[in-house]
Amino acid sequence: MGLWGGRFQGGSSNMFRQVNDSLPFDRILASQDIRGSIIWSRAIAKAGVMSEQEQQQIEAALSALLEKAEAGELDFDASSEEDIHSFVEAALIEQLGDLGRKLHTGRSRNDQVATDFRLWCKEHIVNLRDDLLGVKAALVNSADANRQVILPGYTHLQRAQPVRYPHWCLAYVEMIKRDISRLDDLLIRMDQSPLGCGALAGTVYEIDRQEIASQLGFASPSINSLDAVSDRDYVLELMFCASTSMMHLSRMAEDLIFFNSGEAGFITLGDAVTSGSSLMPQKKNPDALELMRGKCGRVFGSLQSLLVTMKGLPLAYNKDMQEDKEGAFDAVNQWHICLCIAAEVIDTIQLDAQRCAQAARQGYANATEMADYLVGKGIPFRTAHDISGQIVLAAIAQNKPIEGLSLTELQSFSDVIENDVYDILELEYLVDKRNILGGTGAKPVFAALDNELAALKG
Ligand code: ARG
Repeated sequence: MGLWGGRFQGGSSNMFRQVNDSLPFDRILASQDIRGSIIWSRAIAKAGVMSEQEQQQIEAALSALLEKAEAGELDFDASSEEDIHSFVEAALIEQLGDLGRKLHTGRSRNDQVATDFRLWCKEHIVNLRDDLLGVKAALVNSADANRQVILPGYTHLQRAQPVRYPHWCLAYVEMIKRDISRLDDLLIRMDQSPLGCGALAGTVYEIDRQEIASQLGFASPSINSLDAVSDRDYVLELMFCASTSMMHLSRMAEDLIFFNSGEAGFITLGDAVTSGSSLMPQKKNPDALELMRGKCGRVFGSLQSLLVTMKGLPLAYNKDMQEDKEGAFDAVNQWHICLCIAAEVIDTIQLDAQRCAQAARQGYANATEMADYLVGKGIPFRTAHDISGQIVLAAIAQNKPIEGLSLTELQSFSDVIENDVYDILELEYLVDKRNILGGTGAKPVFAALDNELAALKG
């Protein structure tokens, strides 16, 4: 009962400690808590709570503690403190005696935890942004190395129209760019310092909140103390960013799992990111991709769980809010791991260009071109559509693409067909006709790819 024992005659039950203590998980916030404490000691010293010399002693002790925290040398397991805030304060008091007991003047664990968690989120956003850039770079490089590969594009998982492989890569690049901009937006919105808001109503000491904010690296102090100590929007938003990005990763994983299947055979993945079967020696399983897909459950869960926790909480702080951390810590960690492994997997992709093209041809995406060709030879479109359909049927029966049929076979459906038909049935012709901005033709795809390559270098 270290921090609040005065009013109590009895101790806490063991079961209460189990439900109440957060040190087992909020120890992650040690360095943020100590840094916040250093800045707080400066602020209250300026407000006349302690002498300059006393503040220097406190700052020196906290700085030594910070060094230990950053080296991973704090012994949390030996501590009986309730949370990271009481742990840090107790460590200070152990070292400085009564002087250490001055630090908590005008401060509450409510504005403390809100500050610590914001700092933690801000630091992780910066790292996650780099992780996202890593996946983007991997996709752009893979696209660049395989510019000419054409594979089937799908709707309803039915072969629909052929697309360039770089077009597929750049679709995920667009998603990642939005994921990054979501984090950037969040960073602007959450960049406020709650320190100095006290338990809920502010503090009586004349501290400079603007100064505290800037020393902690926040853009400004928060405006309303009730809101500042009880707001967890920024955690929710971060969980939403994590969930949306994981959803994107999961869709990409699903595409690649399919491309890697025996049925498609478009790609092979490196040994470093796949695993074997304990029973079937021939197997090489895309486990990394499956886990990117599978880990969505817990990341989405963290968003849902915090939304439910926050719903219906009266202002201001309630202990329910201690439940904000474990899900967020886990989600951020899993998201980070998935982004790193995604970049690694993409780096190992080897395309089988021939198999991709063969599958793209088998989709009969050129049946419309065939009809248009007949129209060009003077046949009315409705008739041309019908003839082209009959040709597709014959090609399916022989398990060939349209252009796999001989000229004599094609002419048995219409005598206007000549040798020039094979040019318009070519895969590249089909793809590169879609030269509109945003389409899969060589021109727009390579222009977009060149932009991304320039962005990588810049
Ligand atoms: N461990 C608490 C949390 O994570 C810190 C704040 C405690 N505040 C309180 N009034 N008991 O939310």
